Amino acid sequence: MTTLTKTVRDEDYGHVLTAHDAAGSNIVDHGFHIGSEPQNVQTDVAEYHNDVIAHPRPIAVQGNSRLARGASPKVFYRARSGKYFLVKPYHEKIRSGAWDYMHYPYAGFAEMASQALYHAGGIGHLHSKLHVAPHTLKGKVKPMLVVSIDPNAKTVDMLPQTYKSYPHKMYNEAAKIGLMDFLTNNNDRHHFNLMYYPDQEGQPQGLLAIDSGRAFQYKRANRWATDPGTPRDNVFHYLSSSQGMHMLNRAEHDQYVGTRPHISHALEWWKANGPAIRKEMVNQLQAVTDENVRQWIWSNFLNRSQVLDKLSKAWDDHPDERLYLPEYELPEEYYPQDLNVNDRQRLASIPYTLIYRHRPVEPWDSQDAIMPDPKEIEEQAQPALAKSLGIEDWPEVKLQEGEDEADR
Ligand SMILES: Nc1ncnc2c1ncn2[C@@H]1O[C@H](COP(=O)(O)OP(=O)(O)OP(=O)(O)O)[C@@H](O)[C@H]1O
Ligand SMILES: [Mg+2]
Repeated sequence: MTTLTKTVRDEDYGHVLTAHDAAGSNIVDHGFHIGSEPQNVQTDVAEYHNDVIAHPRPIAVQGNSRLARGASPKVFYRARSGKYFLVKPYHEKIRSGAWDYMHYPYAGFAEMASQALYHAGGIGHLHSKLHVAPHTLKGKVKPMLVVSIDPNAKTVDMLPQTYKSYPHKMYNEAAKIGLMDFLTNNNDRHHFNLMYYPDQEGQPQGLLAIDSGRAFQYKRANRWATDPGTPRDNVFHYLSSSQGMHMLNRAEHDQYVGTRPHISHALEWWKANGPAIRKEMVNQLQAVTDENVRQWIWSNFLNRSQVLDKLSKAWDDHPDERLYLPEYELPEEYYPQDLNVNDRQRLASIPYTLIYRHRPVEPWDSQDAIMPDPKEIEEQAQPALAKSLGIEDWPEVKLQEGEDEADR
């Protein structure tokens, strides 16, 4: 690797620098991800290097509100070709508002591992392009996660509502993304974290999954519910009713992600690609240097990958039966919300096509996992965790006014 001289400017990074979590490097070795990006990202790596890292006057773009949307502090650069790059800390600090669904500061690992798993599963084109680049800031080398902004993609909240069926293929893509969200406990599939490619008339053609920085925590169920209050840690929820996926469900055109053809497609894909994805996860876990954390991620990941194996088999063996595990069967009154279906006729046909629940996988027993008071978290949970990980200097977290609200 070439030695990086001072090129990016400290002043572009004011708020981003404080968002680094020193503890992150005790858990994950970012070096694993430097130079590990897939083939389709390599031209972007070179472009970023030439136009930002090694350029005497890189163009940092401020105040682009559409791009700046989201909770993580970030910097944008424009390359000479006009391409944009979004830059976030690899070891990003967990904001106190996020403590109920995040435990370990490994956002950069989560993003890079997620990209690698998509590629291992042959669906790399559905994932945003990422790489890790060390930046010298205030005299210290800080790893940054660099996202290549895709100029053609739009967030799914912009989907046109004009009368036209969306392509079948796009729903198949959504179903695969949904299975990956379940597998990786991607807790952040809201409607700014799922994008689509419009054709010239604006009609959607395909999808792009972005922003997997909150994945692999295995702490809470999918939190972007369109049906708050119902159980969410099940395959169907990730497939169809998380807020981002929900944007694709169109009752008026009878199009839903969570219906048999798309689920069948995704499970066939899983059967063919699950083993390679599991293998790649073992590879990715080499980046996690803390043994407890590595075990934690792996045991949960493995558990869920086995749920998908069982589901694929059950789906074929019992096409007409409900796929709930008996001990977690939901009471009847949950079906409407859980399936997110309003119309009775449809409701009658749907239960046997769907859902395999499993025990939500949580690191603590359920009382501990519900963390109602952020102050309490700061005072108790954080030092306790720091101690259990052998981290002395866990950085202080201060809850900013309105931070919970902005948490997306
Ligand atoms: N690969 C991409 N292509 C196009 N636009 C993108 C891409 N990645 C991010 N964006 C845009 O930038 C916004 C913020 O990016 P991103 O979601 O990664 O940041 P974030 O602050 O971590 O968000 P969150 O708070 O949801 O985690 C997105 O909502 C999207 O509009
Ligand atoms: Mg986002």
